[in-house]
Amino acid sequence: MATYNLTINGKETQVDAAPDTPMLWVLRDHLNMVGTKYGCGIAQCGACTVHLDGVAMRSCQLPVSAIENKKITTIEGLSENGTHPVQQAWLEHDVPQCGYCQAGQIMSAAALLKDNPNPSDSDIDVAMNGNICRCGTYTRIKAAIKTAAKMG
Ligand code: FES
Ligand code: FES
Repeated sequence: MATYNLTINGKETQVDAAPDTPMLWVLRDHLNMVGTKYGCGIAQCGACTVHLDGVAMRSCQLPVSAIENKKITTIEGLSENGTHPVQQAWLEHDVPQCGYCQAGQIMSAAALLKDNPNPSDSDIDVAMNGNICRCGTYTRIKAAIKTAAKMG
């Protein structure tokens, strides 16, 4: 057990955890931030995606010991009041079905647009490839990403 100083959604917080505790469980169990979802636990589904210094990462594979002095952004901190262009485009296209995968989808899409504000279809396919949706919302996800790109 050790104490870690973390910066999550712009707020500094301290967590006591074993060094190999995945960030996903720090968020969900220690900090009660349950927007980030557990899907597979083995980096295969993308449900747990957060940003680490602006880069999309699977929090189920991110030990808490590796993230001190880095900035974590979760779905709760992506924007104030859900106003990030990706969130607005998601609403416009009514993307979610059951919703379980959607926080991860949105975080991956937001990271993509930050790096590449005008992605091609294949750029979107590559960036979103690791985010699985059992409900098959892929067509709406792609359309929403294009709409978000236009919003800039
Ligand atoms: S729960 Fe992390 S990738 Fe599936
Ligand atoms: S909306 Fe149901 S898993 Fe993606």
